[in-house]
Amino acid sequence: MKWEIKQFNSLVSTNTTARGYPAGTIVMAETQTGGRGRYGRVWQSPKGNLYVSFVFESDPIRDQYLSFLTGLALAESLPEFDVRLKWPNDVLLDGKKVAGILLENCGDKIIVGIGVNLISNPTKNMLYPTANLGAQLSPIGLVKRLMIQYEALFDVFEKKGFKKIRARWLDLAVGVGDSISVHLPTEEVMGIFEGISMEGALLIKQGKTVRSITAGDVFLI
Ligand code: BTN
Repeated sequence: MKWEIKQFNSLVSTNTTARGYPAGTIVMAETQTGGRGRYGRVWQSPKGNLYVSFVFESDPIRDQYLSFLTGLALAESLPEFDVRLKWPNDVLLDGKKVAGILLENCGDKIIVGIGVNLISNPTKNMLYPTANLGAQLSPIGLVKRLMIQYEALFDVFEKKGFKKIRARWLDLAVGVGDSISVHLPTEEVMGIFEGISMEGALLIKQGKTVRSITAGDVFLI
């Protein structure tokens, strides 16, 4: 895929600006004044970290797997770090969140927003413990690595399908076989993290029943 990179000093949110660009655009900002995370949470965006959105053409087969492809692309862009993945789309270092991914649909496009704590991480009132990568990478350096990893993973996805991507994702996943708690809007589900379905849902075992969950916040117990 041929990408065009647009760099800005300050934006409300790279995901919002990306909506106005065609597929194949990468929108980066040094800082965001209204960075957002999943479920409308605030994504604090001081200078020095990575705030980027990739604009993809919607693809009915690939879209549901884009968060796994992105998590893997990020992990594989950071070979010098022992990063792990947490369902649905967090990247962890030493069990602490270093990056988050926010997918948003926009007509016939899908925007993949990625925030990576390169030099700093928020500490107050966070849902999860956080960490940063210790200033070893520049935002543009990481975006270039991401472009390469996306290309390689899309190729694997086209040739081998989600089965192969799922296996690679699970190799890096935290908590498989362990007790987890999943916070849903109206309930908390506890059980053993069994794996990921072929549709990308989280599988949680409760006694003899395996329940499939499509959205929620996972906590390792
Ligand atoms: C999450 O873990 O809740 C997802 C966080 C996604 C943050 C990124 S930063 C770049 C892009 N622009 C935004 O406003 N959000 C995403």
